[in-house]
Amino acid sequence: MVISINPAVSQLRESATLGINSQVKRLRGEGRDIVHFGFGQAAFPIPQRIQQALRENAHQNSYMPTQGYEELRKAVAQYYQTEFSMIYQPEDVFIGPGSKELIFQMIYLLEGVLLIPAPSWVSYGPQAALRGKRICSIPTQREMNYKLQPQELEQACHGLEHQQKLLILNNPNNPTGAVYRSEELEALAQVCRRQNIVVISDEIYAKIDFFSGHHSSIATYYPEGTIVSGGLSKSFAAGGYRLGVMLIPQALSALKQGLLALMSETFSAVSAPVQHAAFVAYSQFGEFRQELEINTTIYAHASLYLHHRFVSMGLSCPEPEGAFYLFPDFENFRGKLENRGIHRGAKFTQMLLFEAGVAVLPASDFYFPDDHLGVRVACVDFDGEAVREAWPGESAMEESLTRLLFPRLAQGCDWLEEYLNLL
Ligand SMILES: Cc1ncc(COP(=O)(O)O)c(C=O)c1O
Repeated sequence: MVISINPAVSQLRESATLGINSQVKRLRGEGRDIVHFGFGQAAFPIPQRIQQALRENAHQNSYMPTQGYEELRKAVAQYYQTEFSMIYQPEDVFIGPGSKELIFQMIYLLEGVLLIPAPSWVSYGPQAALRGKRICSIPTQREMNYKLQPQELEQACHGLEHQQKLLILNNPNNPTGAVYRSEELEALAQVCRRQNIVVISDEIYAKIDFFSGHHSSIATYYPEGTIVSGGLSKSFAAGGYRLGVMLIPQALSALKQGLLALMSETFSAVSAPVQHAAFVAYSQFGEFRQELEINTTIYAHASLYLHHRFVSMGLSCPEPEGAFYLFPDFENFRGKLENRGIHRGAKFTQMLLFEAGVAVLPASDFYFPDDHLGVRVACVDFDGEAVREAWPGESAMEESLTRLLFPRLAQGCDWLEEYLNLL
């Protein structure tokens, strides 16, 4: 039978991050030793008390309210106020099966062009394309650690005066590990207000900030135009639970009914046991604070170790400040790589996988041109639980102990270095 499928979908391929994951699994299954710098999932176990809440609620068999059950929404609003001084009411909170799905639904709901700083997370573009939405990617600069600058945003709005504009801003950032500070967000907020931009602020890594310990949100400076997303996946290490949150300010209340309708006609509600587990995560955050702060210190150590190794092997790479990613480029090796017939990032990352045994994603998956020789590296190929048990504290870490605790990261760097030396 010849089957026709929606052309908007047939143009899509499997999400790059999930794609590299299956490729690594397949190669490992064939006995190849691969260091996985390709996939960004939390390296730690979910806090015990949250796991226990999930077990204790396994009997919950009723559908939950589409928006999320009220106690959970109250707990989420309270968490954002206590942790980030962001003020929301329970009716502003929407619970979905992962923030990815909620972002998709919001992109689906809103008319207008989507402004995406390049580099940005892989999925925003395909989600917008599924909706037939025009995408305008805004190139950012290496010298500014790939952070979007107010003048770049202003310039991107030229010619779009008569259209609704959406901006997706991810802070802390995947793929660069950059963290926007208050003054930078304030300056961006001024442009957003002047240009009437609706911001979707993807703050899924909000608690994974290496240096300041206090996450800043553009919603603080532009509350009337910012929708915030977050969830359990990264700082609570519960990506597999699939629970995300979206916060819609009173000023954008007109969106709520539409979002609720979309949610109710698609996933209905997030599973009841998971919502109960999330209630414990948000309402008793104080209990997990110390554990999660240690996790962040360990992510910082792993990221900064990779950064130090990359710079010493001659790569150009902004110093990561949060999340668990780095965005190095191999432009210094362009001549040697071109002599071996490598002109494009995607071919380069396949060579790295097969010849160096290191899995990374090309910058082209993050809205960079194909010929850019940059890659995204995730720093989570380590056993978080074992590292936490042996963790001596940052100040006591010697290089030899780092190698012992993060053997895969050290191995990946060694293999990369050998590969570059042999070019
Ligand atoms: C930048 C960014 N946003 C959103 C998500 C999706 O998170 P969730 O698990 O809440 O769907 C991810 C996951 O990798 C991410 O890196």
